[in-house]
Formats: sequence, structure tokens, C-alpha cells
Amino acid sequence: MSFERLLLRTWSDNHLFSVLVELTYRCNLDCFFCYNDLGLRGRPLSVEQYDELFADLRDLQVLNLTLTGGEPLAHPDFLRLGARARELGFVVRIKSNGHALRGAMARRIRDEIDPFLVEVSLHGATAAVHDRQTREPGSFERLLANLREMRGLGLRVKLNSTLTAWNEHEIEDTMALADRLELPLQIDPEVTPRDDGDREPQSIAPSRAGVRRLFELLAERAAAARERPVEQAGQAGPGEQAGPAGAPSVQVSRLADDGLAPAAAEKHCGAGSSGIAVDPYGNVYPCVQWRRPVGNLHEQSIRDIWAGSSGLADVRTLTVAAKKMVDGFGAAGQLLNFCPGNAAAWSGDALQVYPAALSRMEMAQQAQAGGQEQDGLANRPAPAPAPRKTLLPILQS
Ligand SMILES: C[S@@+](CC[C@H](N)C(=O)[O-])C[C@H]1O[C@@H](n2cnc3c(N)ncnc32)[C@H](O)[C@@H]1O
Ligand code: SF4
Repeated sequence: MSFERLLLRTWSDNHLFSVLVELTYRCNLDCFFCYNDLGLRGRPLSVEQYDELFADLRDLQVLNLTLTGGEPLAHPDFLRLGARARELGFVVRIKSNGHALRGAMARRIRDEIDPFLVEVSLHGATAAVHDRQTREPGSFERLLANLREMRGLGLRVKLNSTLTAWNEHEIEDTMALADRLELPLQIDPEVTPRDDGDREPQSIAPSRAGVRRLFELLAERAAAARERPVEQAGQAGPGEQAGPAGAPSVQVSRLADDGLAPAAAEKHCGAGSSGIAVDPYGNVYPCVQWRRPVGNLHEQSIRDIWAGSSGLADVRTLTVAAKKMVDGFGAAGQLLNFCPGNAAAWSGDALQVYPAALSRMEMAQQAQAGGQEQDGLANRPAPAPAPRKTLLPILQS
């Protein structure tokens, strides 16, 4: 069976494929827009409970395990848990702010965890903007030094950036910085509410002009890539297109997207069908963005939750309904990058399209129309839509 077909089956057969584990909400930075609910209370999972969880996930033949937080490195047993995950054979990803990822810690991550990928957050192209978002003076310069060190150690690193009102004016420079660092960049065009529903983070949501500019820049990069001889093309991973000569890719994608799983025929996304998220207190959610608890690991094993949770059954039904709703928009529906979790956070209704999605669709359409005019393609028939991915990537450079 091809890998693509296998992925399709993970959705239709509810085969658990990717698990995101928020190890702790502790953090050494204090980002203004952080979605973590620091007021959430509960009994943290013990190391033994993580061991049991990981063993169960191995038995369920899970492939991807992502360690995040908060800042995952701030968990006292982070290295031990990461090493255990690797030992069990998972493809381990670490999502980190990169602030402590240096020196002995960086070396131990490489030697003891050997992650498939370290995803590091970059908030802008200058110290003024990055440090404003992290609320930690010096964090930008320290991150740049740490990124160089990580690369020197041979760690595979990707940059994640969320477009905000505070950094949208330097998005082009952020792409150029990623190119100079020779690192792929994933840009999330949406600021989400806090997990407790507080919309304060969205006070720095990007403007419509900022979102449109982002899509225009991607269209420009894609056009530049098309004109290049093949041998000068940059590196491109699965679902990505190359950047400028020798440069890695840039893609616009929502944070829940692991960039791998194509959509199944009948479901909008893999929330609760191929993926789940676990918070530090053992609450299990269909996705990092859909904060509707479907079970708790203090009460039930992940195997029992996966097989028997009525909440998960509801979520799977909703992802089928979400596909029908998005299909109603025709080819443009893909550009909504609709997230049922965000919809539920916005209005309480996982099937209601929210303003940021509608605005994103319009801005992406305008940028695409502009790009086609520049290419002299405006009067040609629209190209067939690209194969749908889980929650995008919306566009790639
Ligand atoms: C919560 S952090 C956890 C991992 C790590 N501490 C970090 O910052 O990369 C995961 C990612 O979500 C992004 N993020 C945080 N709050 C957000 C929000 N309200 N909307 C969109 N992205 C957000 C962060 O910038 C980061 O890339
Ligand atoms: S570094 Fe990550 S977890 Fe920490 S405050 Fe920023 S977004 Fe939140």
C-alpha cells in the first residue's frame, strides 16, 4: 500500500496517527498572545503515566509524537520522556521557543532524543518586534545564536511564525531571515483565542492587508521559483515548494497541521480521527485547537478513550459535517482553512464559519487573482485545485 493510501486510511478507519503532548504550561517566555490557559488546574501526569501513555500509543501503532507546551524543555523530565518516545520508535517532533535550546541541553536533545524535527518559534525579523511579543528582552538575539548552534549540531530545525498586527510589517524580512538561516518557515496566518475562550490574544490579530500581503509574497516566491532552472531550486519537503535559489521553503499553514496527512474522502480534517492532543493534566482533546475534552488519562487509558469516547464519536461526526459545509463554498472553500476547533472557540458552534476564515479566503483569492494577472493567466481557465491537505498548507512559496 502506498504511503498516501495509508494516510487516507488513517482518517477513514480512525487510525490514531499523530499525538501532540503538552508536557507543561510552564515557560521561560511570556508571549503576549500565548493561547495556553494558565488558569487550568489539575493533577499533572506523572512520569509513570507518560510511560504508560507512550506504551499504549506504540501498541496503537501511532507514528508521530509531538512534545510541546508551554515550553516542553521546562518539564523536569523532558529529556527522559523524549528519549523514551524515541526509544519506542515514534517520529518525535519538539515544538520549542528555542530560548533554552543551546549548550548541553541542545547536545543532549540531539544525542538522547534524536528528534525528527525541532520546530522553533520566530516572532519577527528584528529584536524590537520579536522581544515585544515574547516580552523577554534579548530573546531575539539569543534565539539567533541558538539557531546557529542547533544547525551546527546537525539538528533538523523548522521555524514557526504567527502573523500578527505587531509583526506583519516585517513579514518579508522574516522570510529573508529564514532564507539567510537556511531554515524552512511555516507561517500561521491566524491568531487564536486563549484556550479558556479569552479573546485578548486576538487584539493583535493581523490586518486584512497583512494577510493579503503574506499571500502576495508567497505568490511572488512561487513565480520566482517557477522561472528558475531546476538545478537552482531550493529544498522542498512533502507538500512544500522550493523558495528562492538555494533557499528552503515557506508555507502558510495552521498550527495544527503536521503537513503530512491528505484529507480523507468524507472528513474535513483528522481531528479525533487520526490525531489527538493531551494537556499536562491528562485531558484529551481531538486537536490542539479544539479544546473539547473527550476523556482524561487519570480516569481511563488512551486505548479506552480512543475506542469508546462518546465525545470523540461526536467530533468525528462533526468533521464529516464540516466537510459538507466547506464543500459548499466550492473550490474557494480550501482557502478558508476552516478549523472546527477555532469555530467552536469563536461561537460555540464547530460548523459556523468565523470571520478570520472568511477574510483569509478573500485575501488569498485576491492575491491569487493578482498573481494570475501578473503571469498573464487571468483569462485562462483556473487550474485544478491542489490535493486537499489537513488544515492547509493554504499556499506555499
Ligand atoms: C503555545 S506554543 C508551545 C511551544 C513553544 N513554547 C513555542 O512557543 O514554540 C506553540 C506555537 O503556538 C504559537 N502561538 C501561541 N499563541 C498563539 C495564538 N494565540 N495564536 C496563534 N499561534 C499562537 C506559538 O508562537 C508557537 O509557535
Ligand atoms: S514561548 Fe510558547 S508557551 Fe511560552 S509564552 Fe510563548 S507561545 Fe506560550
